Amino acid sequence: MPELTLVIDRDEIQRQVSKIAQAISRDYRGRELVMIGVLKGAFLFLADLARQVRLEKISIDFLQASSYGADTLSSGKIILKKDIDVDVRGKDVLVIEDIVDTGLTLSHLIDHLQGFKPASVKVCAVIDKRERRKTDIRIDYVGSVMEKGFLVGYGLDYAETYRNLPDIYQMKL
Ligand code: IMP
Ligand code: MG
Repeated sequence: MPELTLVIDRDEIQRQVSKIAQAISRDYRGRELVMIGVLKGAFLFLADLARQVRLEKISIDFLQASSYGADTLSSGKIILKKDIDVDVRGKDVLVIEDIVDTGLTLSHLIDHLQGFKPASVKVCAVIDKRERRKTDIRIDYVGSVMEKGFLVGYGLDYAETYRNLPDIYQMKL
């Protein structure tokens, strides 16, 4: 068993979700929002967030990307494994991510989504991990900022395990 150290507990996560949901509800008042979760890591965050955002019209969709040959660091070569179905032209898009590390996945996904001519594209992430950032991507709504470390839980995996943990842990690799 790898060693796991608790870093963000479920109560703190839910406080962050509530804060972000309030900000989104305020910023998008009167608008039509499409929340796009990035599979698989964002599944819990999107589920929690979507239930707290107060807007008349919200649609939900998913994207899945994967990077070649990546273990714990993204290789920079991203392939789209699942595209969106919802028509986002002229709508406000909010991309929901688990964690932004190098930022390469997200910048690729944003470029892809811009191709559909949405009114806007913003980004929301549970964790903004700064040390390895390779792009100057802007994360509009963020739960926690971390310098480094490998995290698991609340959607974040290590080799597909630990996504289901309700809290976020630092893992010793
Ligand atoms: P990026 O393209 O380097 O920003 O990588 C983003 C993706 O890498 C995330 O959506 C995660 O799937 C994965 N990732 C990056 N850091 C971690 C981590 O600390 N724990 C689990 N997955 C991570
Ligand atoms: Mg992952």
